[in-house]
Amino acid sequence: MILARSIRPVSRVRLLGGAAAVAIRTPATQVSVNPCLVGALRRSIYGNSTQRAQQLEQSPQLTLPQFSQTDSQIIIHWGDGRSSTFDNQFLYDHCRCPSCFHPKTKQRLKTLGPVQPDVKVNSIEAKDGAIHISWGTSPAHQSIFPLAFLQQASYDPPMMNRDRLLDRVPLNLWGANIAELPPTVTYNSVMPDKAGADAEKGVLKWLEKVHDFGFCFVTGVPTSTAATEELIRRMSFIRETHYGGFWDFTADMSKGDLAYSNEGLPAHTDTAYFTDPAGLQIFHCLSHPCPPGTGGETLLVDAFYVADQIAKRDPVAYETLSRLAVPFHASGNEGTMLRPPISQPILRHDHMGRLQQARWNNEDRCVLGEGWTPEDVREWYRAARVFEDICTSKEAEYWVKLTPGTVVVIDNWRVMHGRAAFTGQRRMCGAYVGADDWRSRRRALLQQFGVHGADQWSSGW
Ligand SMILES: [Fe+2]
Ligand SMILES: [Zn+2]
Repeated sequence: MILARSIRPVSRVRLLGGAAAVAIRTPATQVSVNPCLVGALRRSIYGNSTQRAQQLEQSPQLTLPQFSQTDSQIIIHWGDGRSSTFDNQFLYDHCRCPSCFHPKTKQRLKTLGPVQPDVKVNSIEAKDGAIHISWGTSPAHQSIFPLAFLQQASYDPPMMNRDRLLDRVPLNLWGANIAELPPTVTYNSVMPDKAGADAEKGVLKWLEKVHDFGFCFVTGVPTSTAATEELIRRMSFIRETHYGGFWDFTADMSKGDLAYSNEGLPAHTDTAYFTDPAGLQIFHCLSHPCPPGTGGETLLVDAFYVADQIAKRDPVAYETLSRLAVPFHASGNEGTMLRPPISQPILRHDHMGRLQQARWNNEDRCVLGEGWTPEDVREWYRAARVFEDICTSKEAEYWVKLTPGTVVVIDNWRVMHGRAAFTGQRRMCGAYVGADDWRSRRRALLQQFGVHGADQWSSGW
């Protein structure tokens, strides 16, 4: 088969300038692989992406532009040789005056009824850093669009990097050497009774580290379940699952999952069997006296780093892991038979081809092959071994012994966790947080502290 879509691993920043896709023929399949994936992705992807974002954000001077029109479009000439073409329907639909867009709820107040292909423009005027459009509708309607909004909204051609608006800023990929300086915040910096008015800023710094690195330690946490739960709730809601909400457990096999044993666990993401896997996995080792206990070290692996390595070394394997849907299940607890109705590939990309999620849990994988060709089966095993080989390499594995007082927050859509087998009494507590919930909290804090200069015009993107 021919895969028309080109995939863009790892970078959540749009790779523009599009080198033409090249076809790589294998016995199993013909796939298209964008060479920028292979050539442009480097350990320093952060730098590449930043450069790209800057380039995209060299917006025209906000001098008043000129216009031209067709029957159905407005063309804005920015004065630097560039222009943006907007369909009249698009502009009319995106009017953000208080009668079209509720200023408090940020919800559209207009149906599609009046948004017609023949919606006409009576007049356009540029003044005060905005474009004023008077529509020839009945009743007449007046829209005001700030120039900055129109530059961000420009789709023909795209002018600005919307990733920035959507918080999809570059990520720091890491391997074992993250041990030298793991991302860390202190408990006191995020709790209001310790940090006072700065506590919300502290939470933003915390979430920024989780976002940038896929995990973050919190040190100096009181070694109690109550303090741990309070800390997690500083970040967001707790997500309830069949394991409960906030959990506190020892290796007693009280649940039908290997997590409740003292076995070693290879690197994995949790709840791969949910349609929407847990966004954050949060652990606090409340006690594990060693000696007499042994082992129990925690393993962290950046799956986006693994993906980046695969893209460089074996783009066909990357494509396979991004294409073939893999089913997962949880069936070990009475009364629970979880399996998502839509299986997803190990590497899941968004509609723009940006890697957004890794789903890897070898223990919870169920029967493969639905809709696959015999060649797919062979190629998937080959690709999965490439994934596992990199995942278990000493360059990728970061081992750390969690001690009471240190909480680890893990982005379960990106960073895999595991543990060494252990002996002795090991008591853990923690919780899951939903993927949308922590991102929402981060974005709201970014807006609160003006990091993105967010205003009413950048809400609702
Ligand atoms: Fe787990
Ligand atoms: Zn309006």
